[in-house]
Amino acid sequence: MKPAHKLLFVLCPMLVLGFIYYSSWKLHLHVWGQKPQEYFSSVVPYNSNKAVEPTVNIMLTSHTTKHTVSQEPVLEGAVSGGRVVGSGTASLQRVHSGQHENPSNNFRRPVFDKQGFTANLDAKLPPDLVYKYGNLSDGACKPGYAAAKMTAIYPKFSKPASMFLDRNFKRLAKVSNYLPPFGLKTQDRIIDDILTATKVYGLGPNLDSLSCKRCIVVGNGGILSNKSLGSRIDEYDVVVRLNEAPVSGYTRDVGSKTTLRITYPEGAIQKPERYEKDSLFVFSAFKPLDFKWLRQMVFKEKLQKTDGFWKSVAHKVPREPSEIRILNPYFIQEAAFQFIGLPLNNGLMGKGNIPTLGTVAITMALHNCDEVAVAGFGYDMNKPHAPLHYYETVKMSAIKESWTHNISKEKEFLRKLVKAKVITDLTNGI
Ligand SMILES: *[C@@H]1O[C@H](CO)[C@@H](O)[C@H](O)[C@H]1NC(C)=O
Ligand SMILES: *[C@@H]1O[C@H](CO)[C@@H](O)[C@H](O)[C@H]1NC(C)=O
Ligand SMILES: *[C@@H]1O[C@H](CO)[C@@H](O)[C@H](O)[C@H]1NC(C)=O
Repeated sequence: MKPAHKLLFVLCPMLVLGFIYYSSWKLHLHVWGQKPQEYFSSVVPYNSNKAVEPTVNIMLTSHTTKHTVSQEPVLEGAVSGGRVVGSGTASLQRVHSGQHENPSNNFRRPVFDKQGFTANLDAKLPPDLVYKYGNLSDGACKPGYAAAKMTAIYPKFSKPASMFLDRNFKRLAKVSNYLPPFGLKTQDRIIDDILTATKVYGLGPNLDSLSCKRCIVVGNGGILSNKSLGSRIDEYDVVVRLNEAPVSGYTRDVGSKTTLRITYPEGAIQKPERYEKDSLFVFSAFKPLDFKWLRQMVFKEKLQKTDGFWKSVAHKVPREPSEIRILNPYFIQEAAFQFIGLPLNNGLMGKGNIPTLGTVAITMALHNCDEVAVAGFGYDMNKPHAPLHYYETVKMSAIKESWTHNISKEKEFLRKLVKAKVITDLTNGI
């Protein structure tokens, strides 16, 4: 072997070893730098915002950063430790400058809670809106008020989200990747069938053309009893009722008008004669089976199987297809994961991560009404003998720890809305 060859023979392995050593160091750095993102992108079903829909700026932050021991990833606002991170920056700064906040207040103190709500719920409206509303006559409906108030305490809020599904539902990016109840995945065919039959996808010409809509969501709480709020409730343009809550016999306290009745199979009115005229039957799905049930109701088919429901369900919905709507499931998703902060559970229904229908209805109203009120919400646990519902004698003490809901966390969210005056609570139960 020539000396030059010898040299090469020694040099080559050294170069290779050197390269391996160097690249393993780089790799080490790379892995450490990348680790959090890789971890989180594998837990989120999706986090990109496709076209059509408003942006939400979800960011995942680890609880492990600094102050907690929990290993669980949590869905948080685009905010970490009082500091704005990533894509949320621009919009947050915009909002701040609009509100003339004292910058020294934000120093070294979290400005936002884990859900992305401002810690200070007295946030002001932008000056142009204050001016606009100040010039309306007393008691006039304020266009965009609820959404503006919401945005002031929750800068990520983006108003556009249609109340009901229409023929373009496949383009709703945020719901197409989740299974029911948080989305529509696997249900395209059946929803197409239903919407082909119902044909109408709005509130109707009179309400759709209003330039300012006032909505009230009437909860079923016993707190409505004996307050004679019926006539005040009937003044709202849109009166939303839930499940089988009756009107007849209770009109003095709960009013007589029903614009929408939102329900799921187990909650729907079972006696056909109890369905009121002139209201829309709004369906909210909690499991894939619910869509099958709805198709049978719309096409007036005989209900064959009832196993899979957790209690008896209506066998008939005496409404024309044109009086039936499907609630946009985005409101369930947004209420659960963004507003309340229930466990994501990989986007699947799980222990304690389903918002109650009342909170889902309020979420819908924030996106679709100019002013939002509620009545009949909240349980007073200090009064165990008070009635749970306004139409039953079941006592408050009968309320059980729910597997699906997290009433206390939900109440925290609703309290923020009331405190910040995003919504008005006529019965002061929240
Ligand atoms: C109402 O508008 C007028 C100008 O048209 C303005 O001078 C006045 O300050 C406004 N009022 C309020 C309360 O903003
Ligand atoms: C409402 O008033 C009726 C009659 O006065 C009374 O019997 C009932 O207990 C009251 N209900 C509540 C919840 O206070
Ligand atoms: C509700 O949430 C709280 C706080 O996250 C948690 O400690 C509690 O176990 C939850 N309850 C249910 C029923 O999931």
